[in-house]
Amino acid sequence: MTAALTVADLAVHYPVRHGPPVRAVDGVSFTIAPGETLGLVGESGCGKSTVSKSVVGLQAPTRGSVVVDGVEIVGADRRTLRQARARMQMVFQDPATSLDPRMTIGAAVGEPLLVRGLARGQALRDRVAGLLAEVGLRPEHATRYPHQFSGGQRQRIVIARALALRPALLVCDEPVSALDVSVRAQILNLLVELQRGLGMATLFVSHDLAVVRHVCDRVAVMYLGRLAELAPRDALFAAPRHPYTRALLLAVPEPDPAAQRAKPRVPLAGEIPSPANPPPGCRFHTRCPMARAPCREQEPAWRQVGESMVACHFAEEVNSPGVDKPGC
Ligand SMILES: Nc1ncnc2c1ncn2[C@@H]1O[C@H](COP(=O)(O)OP(=O)(O)OP(=O)(O)O)[C@@H](O)[C@H]1O
Ligand code: SF4
Ligand SMILES: [Mg+2]
Repeated sequence: MTAALTVADLAVHYPVRHGPPVRAVDGVSFTIAPGETLGLVGESGCGKSTVSKSVVGLQAPTRGSVVVDGVEIVGADRRTLRQARARMQMVFQDPATSLDPRMTIGAAVGEPLLVRGLARGQALRDRVAGLLAEVGLRPEHATRYPHQFSGGQRQRIVIARALALRPALLVCDEPVSALDVSVRAQILNLLVELQRGLGMATLFVSHDLAVVRHVCDRVAVMYLGRLAELAPRDALFAAPRHPYTRALLLAVPEPDPAAQRAKPRVPLAGEIPSPANPPPGCRFHTRCPMARAPCREQEPAWRQVGESMVACHFAEEVNSPGVDKPGC
């Protein structure tokens, strides 16, 4: 079966006026099967949004390949890119900036259909009413303006618009981070329902592991422009194979105080190094509690350990009982 998305050796180096380019993304590869949701997690600045923008054609890569639904979009001509864009849609963090304040909700949601000549007049109004219903809004909302809605409702409108062309791939970049905590679960549940019902592949970008756990089939962990680990969700949460994944998981607070006390403490020490000048060898070595001599010189290979694909020389030791002992 053709993958909905294949990203191969993607790199995005932003030029800067003085000094070396920012290697925001530096050799990232993954695939997403039709109907699958892949989570992309990592700390702020690790390159998640740059990956998502490259996938939807908003950021030209420095090298690599992005194939959406069988079509290469890197270096594609305008016509190919336009056709491919209809097959992928993006939902950003802030719904306020994704909607034109002067456009009614009906016009905004129906625009992709109108522009492509797929519906107009009553047929268009009917399609818009159907899309609004899919995201839990009412037909009469079509005549209102974005400012008349709450943040959560505005994100529903953005999602309705993204679904108008029935994309094969949906890219969600922190879709609930700007929303009130009280409505986050509703929007996440809506996304899961729609994704399952429509069989869309989804790239779901988030810094929040609890959110990713809730919505994703597989999870890719990114550090300083590279993937550290990629694994099925349950395997990643039960037995992380990269010290960075493990540290991220241990940093997630447990709701149960006893479980929280039982957790070993592995603080993520130090700052993330600059992507303009990443450390040699393993990029994580400056912060890794397991780092030793080879880590500073040799870049770890991307290899399979257990159910994970992982880039760590010592991945087999990450879940061993002695891993938290001092001096390890
Ligand atoms: N246009 C640009 N020019 C130069 N550097 C950029 C540009 N856009 C992003 N960067 C840098 O590239 C790196 C990756 O940024 P990106 O926005 O992709 O990270 P992110 O993982 O999405 O972060 P966050 O979680 O904060 O959204 C950061 O160091 C950022 O400062
Ligand atoms: S290769 Fe070394 S520094 Fe990198 S994550 Fe593994 S143990 Fe840590
Ligand atoms: Mg981002």
